[in-house]
Amino acid sequence: MAGDRWTDPVGFERMWGELAQVGRSARTGGYFRQPWTSADNELRAWFVGEAERRGLDVEIDGVGNVIAWWAPDGVTGPGVLTGSHLDSVRDGGAYDGPLGVVSALAAVDLLRERGFVPARPLGLSVFAEEEGSRFGRACLGSRLAVGALDWAAARELRDRQGVALPDALAGAGLDPGDIGPRADLAERIACFVELHVEQGRDLVDRGEPIGVASEIWPHGRYRFEFKGEANHAGTTRMEDRHDPMLTYAMTALAANKQARLAGQRATFGRVEAEPNGTNAVPSRVTAWLDARCDSDAALSDLVEVISRQAGERAERDGTAVEVSEESVTSAVSFDADLAARIAGDHEGGDWPVIPTQAGHDAGIIAAAGVPTAMLFVRNPTGVSHAPSEHAEMPDCLVGVSALADTLERLAGPS
Ligand code: GLV
Ligand code: MN
Ligand code: MN
Repeated sequence: MAGDRWTDPVGFERMWGELAQVGRSARTGGYFRQPWTSADNELRAWFVGEAERRGLDVEIDGVGNVIAWWAPDGVTGPGVLTGSHLDSVRDGGAYDGPLGVVSALAAVDLLRERGFVPARPLGLSVFAEEEGSRFGRACLGSRLAVGALDWAAARELRDRQGVALPDALAGAGLDPGDIGPRADLAERIACFVELHVEQGRDLVDRGEPIGVASEIWPHGRYRFEFKGEANHAGTTRMEDRHDPMLTYAMTALAANKQARLAGQRATFGRVEAEPNGTNAVPSRVTAWLDARCDSDAALSDLVEVISRQAGERAERDGTAVEVSEESVTSAVSFDADLAARIAGDHEGGDWPVIPTQAGHDAGIIAAAGVPTAMLFVRNPTGVSHAPSEHAEMPDCLVGVSALADTLERLAGPS
C-alpha cells in the first residue's frame, strides 16, 4: 500500500507523449500554451477525456477551471484536491504545470492499482491562466475560484491585442455569465496538494528527488510607463533628447543592483517601445518589473527604491515615469504540520522542506484558508520558464508515488 513505487510507467509516458507536441514551437522546442487559445483548449479537452475514461465526474466553470471528482457512492463532504495548470509562459518548458496534472491522473491509476477507495471525494484540478501570460494576472483561474479576485474586476481585463476577458472566454466556448464563475472552492475542499517541477537547484544540490514546499516568497508585477519625446535618430543632438529608452535602461540596471544588494530578485523581462523604429528616438517605453522578496516588507521596499531611482533618472533625462501594480501576491506559508507529515511519509529519511520564489495556484488556495501542500520534483539544471526545463522520468515516477501516498493518507479513512 502506501510507499509502493509505481513500477509501470506506461500510463505516465503515454500521457506525457500525448502532450508533447501541443503548443510546441518547432523553432525553439519551447511551448506557448496561451490561455483560451487552441493549444490551451486542446489540453483542457484532453484532460476532460482522461478524466472521463477513468469514470470521474467532470465540472468546468465559466473560465475553464476543471475539476474531475472521484467520489464513490455515498462519499460526500469537503474533498481532497490535487492538480496544477496546463497553460504556459511564452516559450516555456514542458513540465511547469503539466507535470502536476499528469501526475494527478497517474496517482489515481496507482491508487486504483493498490485497491484504494477514497473515503472523501478526491478531485483532480486544472486551473486556468496560472501564468498570467495573457491577461497579466497570475493565477487568474484559482483567484476567481476562491473569490480572491472579483469577477467585476476580472471582466475588465484586456490582453495585449485588446481582447476583453469575456470575449476570450466566449472564443473558447466558455460563458461565465454576468456573475462570473462560482467562487466557493475554499468551502468545498478540505485540502489541496499541488505537485510541480522544481524551478531551481535546491533538490539537485541536496541529492534528493522530491521536496516539500514550506513557503512562497511574495512577488509582484509592476508596469513602468516611461514617456519621452519622439525625434529623429540622426539630426537630434544628443543633449536635446528626451529619450525614455535611456530612463528604462538605467531603471533595469538599478533594479538588478538593488535586488542584488538586498538579496532579493528583480527582473525586467518584457519591454515594448513606441514607435519601435530603428531611426527614431522613442516616444514611449513600457516595461514590466517582476520582483520577488523574502518578506512583504522587503518587496515593497525593493519596488519603492527602484521606482524612486526611475523617477530621479527621468528628471535627469527630461522624461516621465509612472509605475502601477498589475499583480501582487503576498507571502504564503504552507501548513507546517501537513508539510512535515508529507516530508516524513516515506522510507529512507525525510524529504527536504524548502521555500520557493515561484508563484502557484497552491499559494492562492492556501491564502484562502485551505490546508495546502506542494511536492517538488527535482529539476536537473533548475532551468524553468524556458524550453530546457526538465525532470528525469524516474524522478517523475517517484513524484507520482509520493503524490499517491499523500492522497491515500489525506483521502483515506481517518
Ligand atoms: C509562475 O510560474 C511564476 O512564478 O511566475
Ligand atoms: Mn510558471
Ligand atoms: Mn506552474
